[in-house]
Amino acid sequence: MGATPFRVAVLISGAGTNLQALLDQLHSPGGAIEIVGIAASRADAAGLRRAQAAGVESAVFAIAEHPDRADRDRALGDWLDSLGVELVVLAGFMELLSPEFVARFAGRIVNVHPSLLPAFPGLRAIEQAVEQGVKVTGVTVHFVDEGVDSGAIVLQEALDLSYPARIAEIEERVHGVEHRLLPRAVRLIAAGRVRPDPANPHAVLVDDGD
Ligand code: GAR
Repeated sequence: MGATPFRVAVLISGAGTNLQALLDQLHSPGGAIEIVGIAASRADAAGLRRAQAAGVESAVFAIAEHPDRADRDRALGDWLDSLGVELVVLAGFMELLSPEFVARFAGRIVNVHPSLLPAFPGLRAIEQAVEQGVKVTGVTVHFVDEGVDSGAIVLQEALDLSYPARIAEIEERVHGVEHRLLPRAVRLIAAGRVRPDPANPHAVLVDDGD
């Protein structure tokens, strides 16, 4: 663990309700955890207004403004390093990151995903679950590796589905879970309570007790 505060950056693409949960529940300048930077993949991400309202430094890193994804991700990585970021949180960041970026921040990137991984990775996870008629779905917070939504799972929580299903209603319930689970996972990581499982390279051990 680094010095206090534990320095976190949040990457977004859209509304940023998970960003808001992190700001409301964790952000404490000079305290245990500080959100030191918020980056968006697009200039019209509504969540950028939340960054401004919270007085946190923010920036836009759009692929269209760079020759390619690797170049964009290099610039993003340089910005994160300049802020001394210890953990990068993907909170509704809807783009893949280059393998170079993932290697540069290996073990220091987490993502929140709206399904019980490894079921329904990628885009439209809630719609995929409903299309399959599953009776249980949920939320996963996981480390990011070079695959798509395939890194070690930190926390998961299940949600029952009933049919006929309304996507908007499920999204609302998923958000409710995410807004508790993601801040909890970040708090556990910041406290050094998440560590590699020596018995399983795909797993981490989480000390979730009091
Ligand atoms: C969240 O539900 C998050 O799980 C999902 O995007 C939403 C963003 O909401 N992420 C993915 O699907 C990533 N594959 P927000 O912008 O209001 O936090």
